[in-house]
Amino acid sequence: MKVLVIGGAGYIGSHVVKELLDRGAQAVVYDDLSSGHKINLFPGAGFVEGDILDYPKLKTAMEDGIDAVVYLAAKKAVGESMENPELYAENNLIGAVNVLNAMAKSNVKALVFSSSAAVYGMPEYWPIDEEHPLNPISFYGFTKVEMERLMEWYDRLRGIKYTALRYFNAAGYDAGGAIKGRDRNPQNLLPIIREVVDGKRECLQIFGNDYETRDGTCVRDYVHVSDLAAAHVLAINRLLEGKPSAVFNLGTTNGVTVQEVAAATEKVTGKPLPVRYAPRRPGDPAVLVASNRKAETELGWKPVYTSIEDIVRTELA
Ligand code: WQD
Repeated sequence: MKVLVIGGAGYIGSHVVKELLDRGAQAVVYDDLSSGHKINLFPGAGFVEGDILDYPKLKTAMEDGIDAVVYLAAKKAVGESMENPELYAENNLIGAVNVLNAMAKSNVKALVFSSSAAVYGMPEYWPIDEEHPLNPISFYGFTKVEMERLMEWYDRLRGIKYTALRYFNAAGYDAGGAIKGRDRNPQNLLPIIREVVDGKRECLQIFGNDYETRDGTCVRDYVHVSDLAAAHVLAINRLLEGKPSAVFNLGTTNGVTVQEVAAATEKVTGKPLPVRYAPRRPGDPAVLVASNRKAETELGWKPVYTSIEDIVRTELA
């Protein structure tokens, strides 16, 4: 099995490539290294340096005996997507069309796509299952919904089978230290905590402690990146077995508050973590927790990392 991993030098992509190689598959990374790192490329994988907006290059990469595509390359900062929608339209929407058109032209019929819990917007109930209405409140989330819709049509009209994986809060790093290149300009909670622990930031600002949750801070579903990577390989195998297109939430069902993440960090480091309470961040739901029942029953996926302390430990290593 030969898999083209678009965005394979990035945070989740590099873990997916590792998992593919560990399972004996062939992987070719297609990445423009705009946010991914050369150091994340595995010697066992092929590499094409290219932009998803470079359609001819993408199509050529697809014509190299590829059985399945994992498409991760995208802009992913929610706040930035509201300030610069043009950038997100170009990368995430035109990029998505390019991937689908290149697959249609090269006759590649299996696609695993990085979607997001951002497709749901403000949750109407939780745990959130895949039937929850799609109501994105960010332009970023909108781009993910649009790609899911495009994939439905390319399935119907071009027979491309897809799996959309809606990640909740991806966190942690490979426990064996295989991934060396970290996200530049981290915007998410765990990388920010790492900067505080490393002394690059004075303190963790906790956005809001007056939510209706057990300690007043927001509840999220942190899912380990190696568990996410495993789900991609299961999804590819499922598609290549001839199963129909599907959408899966990837989370642990285990809600953890920001304060609990801070406490887990203190346990791991054995040192106090300086925190400061700040006002709520606009657009933050109080609780975002996945139901992963469908991924468990139909994909055979079960997250290995269920403790936030273990996740934090891999983030700080
Ligand atoms: C987690 C919690 C913050 C930073 C976003 C996207 C989602 C997905 C993952 C891509 C929240 C709190 C954070 C800080 C804090 N992205 N926090 N201080 O917003 O849950 O999810 O990233 O697909 O679609 O929406 O993740 O890591 O930014 O925040 O208190 O300095 O930590 O308020 O409760 P979020 P996050």
